[in-house]
Amino acid sequence: MRDGWIRWPANVAGRFGGEPVAFGGDYNPEQWDESVWPEDARLMREAGVNLVTVGVFAWSALQPGPDRWDFGWLDRVLDLLHANDIAVDLATATASPPPWLTTRFPEVLPVDRDGRTMSQGGRQAWSPSSQVFREHSLALVEKLAARYGGHPALALWHVSNELGGHNSRCYGEASAVAFRGWLRERYGDSLDALNAAWATRVWSQSYSAWEEIQPPRLTFTDSNPTQVLDFDRFSSDQLREQLRAESAVLRRHTPDVPITTNMVLFDAGKNMNYSSWAGDMDLVSSDHYLRPAPDADAELSFSADRARGLATGSPWLLMETATGATSWRPVNPAKRPGQLRRDVFAHVARGADGICFFQWRAGQAGPERFHSAMLPHAGAGSRKFHEVKALGADLAACAEVLGSRTAADCALLFGEEAWWAADRESHPHNGLSYADTALRWYRSLRDAGLTVDVVPPSADLSRYRLIVAPMLYLVSDEDAGALAAAAEAGATVLVTYFSGIVDPLDRVRLGGYPGAFRDLLGVRVEEFAPLLDAETVEIKGVTGPGRVSTWHEQIDLTDAVAEATYAGGDFAGLPAVTRAARGSGEAWYVGGELESEARAALLAALVERSGATAVPHRPGLDAVIRRAADRDYLFLINHGADDAVVAGSGTDLLDGSVHEDEIVVPAGGVRVVASARGATAGA
Ligand code: GLA
Repeated sequence: MRDGWIRWPANVAGRFGGEPVAFGGDYNPEQWDESVWPEDARLMREAGVNLVTVGVFAWSALQPGPDRWDFGWLDRVLDLLHANDIAVDLATATASPPPWLTTRFPEVLPVDRDGRTMSQGGRQAWSPSSQVFREHSLALVEKLAARYGGHPALALWHVSNELGGHNSRCYGEASAVAFRGWLRERYGDSLDALNAAWATRVWSQSYSAWEEIQPPRLTFTDSNPTQVLDFDRFSSDQLREQLRAESAVLRRHTPDVPITTNMVLFDAGKNMNYSSWAGDMDLVSSDHYLRPAPDADAELSFSADRARGLATGSPWLLMETATGATSWRPVNPAKRPGQLRRDVFAHVARGADGICFFQWRAGQAGPERFHSAMLPHAGAGSRKFHEVKALGADLAACAEVLGSRTAADCALLFGEEAWWAADRESHPHNGLSYADTALRWYRSLRDAGLTVDVVPPSADLSRYRLIVAPMLYLVSDEDAGALAAAAEAGATVLVTYFSGIVDPLDRVRLGGYPGAFRDLLGVRVEEFAPLLDAETVEIKGVTGPGRVSTWHEQIDLTDAVAEATYAGGDFAGLPAVTRAARGSGEAWYVGGELESEARAALLAALVERSGATAVPHRPGLDAVIRRAADRDYLFLINHGADDAVVAGSGTDLLDGSVHEDEIVVPAGGVRVVASARGATAGA
């Protein structure tokens, strides 16, 4: 990945009088009569839009039949946008195949685990393993790159769209063939190696020929976990192959135009191993839609911090978010007053150098006709459009933050393979959720005033003072070793229960739990003791008097000390939370599911011991610092109903107000306070 913000190609750079914060959204002009386009361009200008994504679902409009192409409309759209100083993130249009393709070649259609073939009529109706799809999609990319590679509006290539969002797992014949090929490569063409890796002696599954191997289709019982895990890896790799294949075409035509593909970093993004894709992009971009939950901003922050983690600290682009409601949840709440601005700045604070929406103009038809947009059904006189214009002005006022880095010396390890494997069936407690567990710890870290890099376990951990590894069930020897090395080098490391349990083949690490982390943590566990739904057990110590639910276990100390103990139950008097000194750092272990007060008390101690940078926490106030060479930008986002006052000084880029010693952030308001570097330390 290239360092820093989008390198606008020479034909785009300079048009804006310096680099702007990107602001815009998905633009689908092919869904509208051409007479509407001039108004689109005019209103985009009015709103300060400078980047739009064009062509995401335009394949059938660009290639209406096998040998028919129609680029005229796209020529006119790009010319119009260029004439209005609006740059284009041009989609490769391969996200959804046209009906003629799937009718001629039904093998393109994906098949779900139950064996049902998905039909045309929705979107993403293609199997990531279909060679027919690959050939036809690349032919389209070739045409687009040749035709528009030199267009002055082109700023960025947008490969496909949310790759794998719906079609990440295909169990059809094309996938079976490709899976076997992938396995032959992985296991050095040795069936013996595969049989050993998959432990196929269990339940009589030994394979005698490659053709016998299937994707993990429907079975009566729990499936072979390693087969499923390899299928997860294969499926993610197949999507990455599509990204790579399209990118290769684009790079051949336009080596200087950056390439991205938009990722979904929580919930629906589970099926993709994005940390193995990030290196294939010039710019990390992500899509975020708010969960309708009381503290939804915690998940928003988590996703944004993960985008920055995938970008290894470089700025990234929020490719899609909503100005208001989505249209695909059971109930789609509107945003509350001021929430759009707060949400957007929570992303900018965490490193987004551009904010784009789905979509520019609200659809009149189709499944997403009730999805919010920048320009709503009510038109340009609406409150929403007014809000969007104000947002455009706010972002333009913040242009100087571009390229600055969000400052974090705390990391939360979040691994895709651990996610897949931890959530699998046949576990001691089948109600555990890896992502929700990570989010609980993240929320508590955030409440402790920390800015957190959400990074894969393979990340460079050297700059972190505090590293939290929640439920890292599956971990490689290398990654476990890196965590131990970070502790030796001075970091405070916290590992939670059901971590280090299996190797990358999902084989239990023998000799006692938590296998890979036993030595690091100085503890040994012989038996898990998950708790039934209503059961809780009291604890006391560094956690304060509190309780655990869901999980606990009997911890034997090797060379760790107990920092909290059980105050009741079968393990009364035995350790619940432990600490081991390691080099110039230390390693902590939490053997049960702590309630939030206990987590908070523990983290308060860890913040202090680790020296991690925390801003004094005020409930509902999000405070994050971005640093440039000589300037600090303190983002203050007040989600609360009361004004918040923090220590600090500087000039608010949004309203120009000057603050000395203290900064008042109005209820529901946002401030971006610029000051000389280092001046925000007391915030
Ligand atoms: C996803 C897709 C968009 C649109 C939005 C709606 O992010 O990429 O095309 O469907 O969801 O929320």
